Parts: sequence; C-alpha cells; structure tokens
Amino acid sequence: MGDLNTCRICGAPTECVLDLGKTPPANSLKKRRDEPEAAFPLVLHRCDTCGNLQLRDCLIADDLYRNYLYVTPSSPMLSRHYRVLIDYLSSHGHVNAGSRVLEIGSNAGLFLEAIAPDVSAVVGVDPATAIAAQANAAGIPTVCDFFNADSAARIAGEYWRPDLIVARHCFAHNCSPHEMLGGVTKILADDGLFVIENAYALNTVEQTEFDQIYHEHMFYYSVRSMRHLLQMHGMTLVDVMTASIHGGSIVFVAARATAGREPLPTVERALERETAPLSREGLGAFAQRTREAGAKLRRLVSELRAEGRTINTYGATAKGNTLLNYSGLTASDIPFCADSTEIKQGRYLPQSNILVISEEQAFADPPDYFLLTAWNYQEEIVAKVRARGNIRSKFIVPIPEPHII
Ligand code: TYD
Repeated sequence: MGDLNTCRICGAPTECVLDLGKTPPANSLKKRRDEPEAAFPLVLHRCDTCGNLQLRDCLIADDLYRNYLYVTPSSPMLSRHYRVLIDYLSSHGHVNAGSRVLEIGSNAGLFLEAIAPDVSAVVGVDPATAIAAQANAAGIPTVCDFFNADSAARIAGEYWRPDLIVARHCFAHNCSPHEMLGGVTKILADDGLFVIENAYALNTVEQTEFDQIYHEHMFYYSVRSMRHLLQMHGMTLVDVMTASIHGGSIVFVAARATAGREPLPTVERALERETAPLSREGLGAFAQRTREAGAKLRRLVSELRAEGRTINTYGATAKGNTLLNYSGLTASDIPFCADSTEIKQGRYLPQSNILVISEEQAFADPPDYFLLTAWNYQEEIVAKVRARGNIRSKFIVPIPEPHII
C-alpha cells in the first residue's frame, strides 16, 4: 500500500533500520509440511520526522486475521497483569462502577471478563470468526468485525458510546492506525479515554528483542510517535505506564483534546528516556546487536547438535518464527515445538517446518534443551516443566542474547 518508503503516520520519508529477510507471516502455521508458503520482506523502517518505527511492507489485515490461530493463553502471569492494569485504571479514576468499556481486538474475551465486575457494561470487537464465537459462547458480548469508523458507528448504535476504549496488543497490528483512531474519535464519550497497550519500542530495542518484529506488528510505538499520531486526531496523550508483560509493554492513555486534560509528568519523563536509544544511532546499534544475536544462536545450536544433544522449542509463538527463520534454524536441528494451544498442535511452523506438539508429549519425551521461543513466559514455563518432574532439560533463552539457564 502506498509508497513503501513513506511514514504511515505523518507521510514523511522513512529509512531502513534493519532487514530481517523474507519470511512467511508468523502465525501462518501449516497443516502439511509440504504446503506451499509465501514469504514477504520483513524490513524495519524509521521516520526521522515523527520518530515512527514501522514495517516497510504491510500485509493485508483480512488475510492475517480472519482465520487467526492466536488464542490468548490462560496464564497466571496474564491474569496478574490484567489486575495491575485494572487497578491502575481504577486508582487513576479512568474507570468506575458506571463505566461502559469497549475492547478492540478482544480475542477470547479474557480481559473483558476480568474488568467486567468493576464496571457497568463491556463489549468486545474482534475480526477472528472462530475466536469471537468462542468469546460469545463464554458470555462476553463480542462483535465479529474489524474496528473502524463504520463498525464503530454500528457498535455504538447497538450498544452505547463507550467511556473507555481499550486496545491491547492490537493497535500496531493494522497498516492504518488512522482508521482505528477514526473509529475511536467517532464514538468515544466526550470525556472518555482511549487506552492502548502495546509492546514498547524502547524495550524492544534496549533488550534486543528483534523477534518482536513480524508481519502482524506493523508499528513499533514510542511515546514520541504515539503522541504525534494522537495529536493528528485531536487527542492528547495524558499518561503512560510501563509493564513487564510481553518483554516490556507500555500503556498509553489518551483523551480528546477538547476534554482539556493536561499531560501528567510521566509523559515528558518517558520522552526524555527514549530519545537516545530510539535515535538513528541507537537503532544502528540495535541492528548490529541483532545480527550478532542471530549468529550466536545459530552457532550455539550447531555446537549442541554436534555434541548429540536434542533440542525442542517451547512456545509456537509469532516471535519464535522470526527468531528461528532469521537465525536459519529448521526441523533438521529442532524437530518439535511444545505448545498448549490445541489448534496449533499437529501443525508445522512456517519455513522452519518444526512440528507443534502438546506440552504433555514434550514432557513424555523431554529433550536436552528447550529453546524458549515464548521467553516472555520464562518463569511460568520453567516452573511448569520442573513441576512435572523434569529436572533434566535445560533452557536456551534467546533474549537479550542467547544464553543457557
Ligand atoms: P505469546 O507470548 O503471546 O506470543 P506471540 O505474541 O509472539 O505469538 O504466545 C505464547 C505462546 O506460548 C502461545 O502459543 C501459548 C504458549 N504457551 C505454552 O505453550 N505454555 C505456557 O505455559 C504458556 C504460558 C504459553
């Protein structure tokens, strides 16, 4: 869409930060090993004008999300995070018992289920047919659609104008943030808030999480780029909060400029903190660390295989596919990937052709090493493996650089 070297936020020219080569979309797991697969360039660009980081090439959302296989895992860590977020929203007066909450990209409805007791009404909107049906069946009202000005108007007509709109880990998943914001500004209550939670570009860069880069993640937001984008839609970034979830996330809180809310000092402090790491030079250093990390992982796996060690990956994650494919790792070195998501099991990871098995299967025949492709759940997964009596398998943690624990 449009000129590949143009910022999708402000329209200024962009420049290349990092080229990760061509890969299939990260969640396109295959039913058969020999199923044909298309690969697309994975190239990170930066706009010097507004600080935006975006993929050069954007895939079509309809192809990516209608038959989506990503179901939020049930995880104590996620439940704790929902609690932290809800407590933050309540203690800052952003929600109260009378609030009506709309969640964009609500998936199976776990966040809405968690916030429902604290507010007066909830509704979700999500384009993935099977997953929206699952949420409705579980009692979380969910509209199956993409979120834009048209669907927003329909939802507001059928339900209400929301006091709080939440978009958790989905706002960067669409090539036009302007479309989503068009929907938000159309229906948000006059004094309502829009809360966006996303992986934070500062953490991605500082912790060399190059595997956060995949086709679904079309933007890598910073406070600077988000503030600019919101201003273009008559909104003010009033607060930010950081969280450790998903390798380092940020919660942006925005209000209509007409509501007259002043930004809290947290915004200015975050801007200062991110300026150097997200500058052209800072990103050049990130690209260099990425090249080194990829080569180190490849070397480590070759050495272990030469010693006759067996390796499985743990977590059929989107980020894992960037990690494996960029590092050139395939089923010939790593035959299996353990994952708790039933619809992923029995399928093959794109390009690497690694077969996804259940955690039980992996526990029954444990490898010498698990490459932790779901490193964001490290604590939980290591505890789970040990609790199942497996004290033999070691873990290769790929971030911030490959190391063994
Ligand atoms: P996630 O970290 O959300 O990754 P991404 O956004 O990169 O796709 O996905 C976590 C994956 O790990 C998911 O497929 C479920 C799996 N998983 C397990 O198999 N066992 C576990 O105990 C946990 C917490 C996750």
